[in-house]
Amino acid sequence: MQTILILNGPNLNLLGTREPEIYGKETLPTVIANLQRRFLDLTLKHYQSNHEGALIDKLQETDGFDSVVINPGALAHTSYALADCIRALPKPVVEVHISNVFGRAETWRHQSVISPVVAGVISGFGVAGYVLAIDYLLHHYNKA
Ligand code: DQA
Repeated sequence: MQTILILNGPNLNLLGTREPEIYGKETLPTVIANLQRRFLDLTLKHYQSNHEGALIDKLQETDGFDSVVINPGALAHTSYALADCIRALPKPVVEVHISNVFGRAETWRHQSVISPVVAGVISGFGVAGYVLAIDYLLHHYNKA
């Protein structure tokens, strides 16, 4: 059975209450529970941290998963350390953003240092982005 690591970065633990007009009203535990219900044939491991190093440590535990869906939060815009870690990871990684970062008012959100080292980016489809990312990874594996 395929195991996918769902990794969420800083402030995503606040989903549901943080700017719901941008990020929606679903909490992170609900999002994860809905994903697990939807993808019964997959093992989903979820980890959220507000700490860059903790996310990197989790990614370096490479034995425990086949591929990764990551919403790095604001670390997408700043973290060369996370980018280097993903670059070194011999597994497919998909970057997800709940909001459309390219359309947001803050121009610093328009750039991701993670995007060049992932298989692809999904941005702006709300929490459905996690579903789309897992669909891609399933397709990728079924082709292999
Ligand atoms: C986010 C977008 C980032 O710019 C922001 O810092 C987040 C959430 C998103 O899911 O839309 O924390 O990654």
